[in-house]
Amino acid sequence: MPDRPDNVTFPITLRYEHRVIFTRDVFAPDNPTLAELLSPREPGENVAAMVFWDAGLAAAFPEIAEKISMWFAGRSDRVRLAAAPIAVAGGEAVKNDFHQLEQVWSAINHAAMCRHSYIIAVGGGAMLDMVGFAAATAHRGIPLVRVPTTSLSQGDGGVGVKNGINYFGKKNWLGAFVVPHAIVNDFVFLHALPVRARRCGLIEAVKVALIRDAKFFEFIAQRVELLARFEPAAFEAVIRESARQHIEHIATAGDPFERGSARPLDFGHWAAHKLEQLSEFRVSHGEAVAVGMAIDIIYARRIGLLPEPVAERILDVIQRLGFELFAPVKEIRTPTGRQDMLDGLEEFREHLGGRLSIPMIRAPGDRLEVHEIDGAVVKAAFDELRTRYGDGRNPGA
Ligand SMILES: NC(=O)c1ccc[n+]([C@@H]2O[C@H](COP(=O)([O-])OP(=O)(O)OC[C@H]3O[C@@H](n4cnc5c(N)ncnc54)[C@H](O)[C@@H]3O)[C@@H](O)[C@H]2O)c1
Ligand SMILES: [Zn+2]
Repeated sequence: MPDRPDNVTFPITLRYEHRVIFTRDVFAPDNPTLAELLSPREPGENVAAMVFWDAGLAAAFPEIAEKISMWFAGRSDRVRLAAAPIAVAGGEAVKNDFHQLEQVWSAINHAAMCRHSYIIAVGGGAMLDMVGFAAATAHRGIPLVRVPTTSLSQGDGGVGVKNGINYFGKKNWLGAFVVPHAIVNDFVFLHALPVRARRCGLIEAVKVALIRDAKFFEFIAQRVELLARFEPAAFEAVIRESARQHIEHIATAGDPFERGSARPLDFGHWAAHKLEQLSEFRVSHGEAVAVGMAIDIIYARRIGLLPEPVAERILDVIQRLGFELFAPVKEIRTPTGRQDMLDGLEEFREHLGGRLSIPMIRAPGDRLEVHEIDGAVVKAAFDELRTRYGDGRNPGA
């Protein structure tokens, strides 16, 4: 009973399972993974589903739409496709085009989907974000199964609880926090990725290892040569563990919907986001994160947080995985490149809503949040990066 008649308050407690299931060849006729997930809300109901797939998959998997249809046809007693699988453009552009979102809404409406049906999105992080937002808003939320198909989305971006599109020229301005019904990581998709894109998932694995788990960092460090050439067993083990660590962090660290200021999973990301933007997205997210983490690691060493041999070892691992630590900065074509990049810190503060909170490490697995950053040291870290890893030709840097 509330004590005051003018204030009626009851708690609402919701429980979610945040899960990722690992499989191979999810639409092979005998693969039961999805069938086990698409359970009817009422016993005996035939479950309706729609599949949106990333058009970027067509080159490596030209038969994908037929394969998806066949998979459903083999289970028509329990699940049915409410419409033929729909191709959606992949890549960041899909998050900038409101019309594409409207098309997904329109298809959902046309197929008469309801909250007892499922939307399955198969693709890279960008289209998962857009289709996820469409699913979250249609009928106030249709359950979503995500099937990420890039290494970055399987190990990080696709296994979270956020969706969104870019609006007013700002990244992820429209979006929602929604725990997906499930995530299915199918490693077969990864082997079709171009080398640069395949490498990107590895940097988020290094990131999550550095902020959470020294053993995982050692695991990566000891396999760096194998990982640099994507030896399948080592590569899959690292993407799998990265996904597991991200899921565990989101579910157990106490702030799944990011109400607080700390963003531990954004280690190295303040500079990375700015670099991506200033390069007009010629630098991919993963490549930018490698540079951003290098800046933060050098910064942490310079302020005496991170012992020099540890900092050097981390930089060495990142480089030996194949990441460039300065070359991406040269993609910034503005005359004041360095200063613009350092302004990213201010934007990060605004994004958090006031108090600056930057994740830093004292050692792999030993994280802390810092609330003040010394601009002069950041500049020195940036200059060190250029001296050590660049040739100094970038006019703005
Ligand atoms: N929601 C979140 O929590 C979260 C977190 C991190 C990043 N993200 C978002 O993820 C997006 C980046 O995702 P991404 O790195 O997966 O890249 P992406 O989605 O931009 O895809 C890159 C390209 O790869 C293609 N592609 C996808 N799978 C393929 C495959 N198996 N083989 C060949 N080509 C394939 C796509 O068509 C696209 O052209 C960004 O928009 C970022 O904001 C979201
Ligand atoms: Zn990231």
